[in-house]
Amino acid sequence: MKTLRLGIWLHLLLAAAVGIALAFAVMWMGVQVTLDRYVRDEFGTEAVQVESVLQSYYAVLGLRAAEDIAREVVAKSGGQVILRSSGQVVLNVHRSSRAACAEGGMSSAFVLESPFGGPALQGQFCLPGTAGVAPELLRPLLLPAGVGFLGALAVSLLLSRRIVLGVTSTARAARRFAAGDLRARVEPTGPREIADLGLEFNRMAQHLAEAQEQRQALVADVAHELRTPLTVLRGYVEALHDGVSAPEPALLEVIHTQAVQLQRLVDDLQELAQTESSTGLALDLHRLQLAEALTTAAASFSLSAQEKGVEIVVEAPEDLPAARADERRIAQVLHNLIGNALRYTPRGGSITLHALAADGQVRTEVRDTGVGIAPEHRARVFDRFYRVDPSRARETGGSGLGLTIAQGIVQAHGGAIGVEPNPGGGSVFWFTLPVWNQDGPA
Ligand SMILES: Nc1ncnc2c1ncn2[C@@H]1O[C@H](COP(=O)(O)OP(=O)(O)OP(=O)(O)O)[C@@H](O)[C@H]1O
Ligand SMILES: [Mg+2]
Repeated sequence: MKTLRLGIWLHLLLAAAVGIALAFAVMWMGVQVTLDRYVRDEFGTEAVQVESVLQSYYAVLGLRAAEDIAREVVAKSGGQVILRSSGQVVLNVHRSSRAACAEGGMSSAFVLESPFGGPALQGQFCLPGTAGVAPELLRPLLLPAGVGFLGALAVSLLLSRRIVLGVTSTARAARRFAAGDLRARVEPTGPREIADLGLEFNRMAQHLAEAQEQRQALVADVAHELRTPLTVLRGYVEALHDGVSAPEPALLEVIHTQAVQLQRLVDDLQELAQTESSTGLALDLHRLQLAEALTTAAASFSLSAQEKGVEIVVEAPEDLPAARADERRIAQVLHNLIGNALRYTPRGGSITLHALAADGQVRTEVRDTGVGIAPEHRARVFDRFYRVDPSRARETGGSGLGLTIAQGIVQAHGGAIGVEPNPGGGSVFWFTLPVWNQDGPA
């Protein structure tokens, strides 16, 4: 924790120091460039003035007078004046021993003409460069700049402190969480982004804690579900073993039924694990005509429906669009919904399998005229192992996982599933599937 805090401090301070240093460097260069430009402009006008004065003196009074005036100019403004005739230097005036032209100062060339037949002179007027002027000008700025630097450093220290506090409190909570304390949460502090980091951590921790709780609940549920058939089986096997009961067909039939129930439960659990896996359910998506799927499903229940005296009707419009779905998985959903409907619909009732297009989706309804589901149970029938009447469901062998698995399958398709009361009595279980789109992936 200490090294993390130190690391963040160091990084933030280094970033602040580099930023401030860069700002000063840019300012320094800016002043230098502006100064240079200003001096060059000034020099330009001065050079023109010198040239015209020298020209007048040379033209009217000759070389001597031009030399005098050149000396005066140099004495006033510094720099250097050089005059050449046929390449030979006839005049070289400079204030100090430093020759401005030779030192790379600014120079301006000109030509002096004489109307009285004197030689035309080539002239050059030079000024020392601006190098060294900027530091001179900037010296008075050093104190305010130093104060600014310290101020910026102080502000960045304060900001760093807030960031460090926020990050370390998140790191502390993460460590506690990793050590098994699932209630570890962050008190979000610091700048908004850092506080958001804390909030995100809390969200993730909440999610993981819930997942852990669900896992524990699942193990408890499974243990509970396995206990009843195992107890029954154990009782019968012990009775056989002790010679209390004889291995008669009726008894063996009960043992077999319990074993089948256990097998179903394990199969359903495996199915559930698949629908709830993080990688999702592997679907083989194709163009599915719901009317055909409903007819096939109805046919597979026709015998048991006939025995029970319940009528199954299929209703699907001719122009029903095809759905994008995994045929085998949707058959599984229909199997559970129709199986449930048949189980809870008394003799003389009916089950209607209805398909329709709605909001760009294909909607399938399984309507029954059965016992219906009370509103307080309706929201929970999709929960794992939930049965409205556990004793009755156990009689029929239902594990209470059918609707949970159906929900997982429909949601993996990008659809929704739900239940509503049937206006005429009974329930309407519905689910939606995306419409098959020619351009979409097959
Ligand atoms: N059509 C229906 N009418 C009345 N109650 C229903 C209907 N469908 C489901 N239920 C209720 O919802 C519960 C959960 O249904 P689900 O299909 O998940 O489990 P199950 O049928 O009991 O067992 P499984 O489907 O795993 O064999 C059922 O036990 C039942 O109480
Ligand atoms: Mg069921």
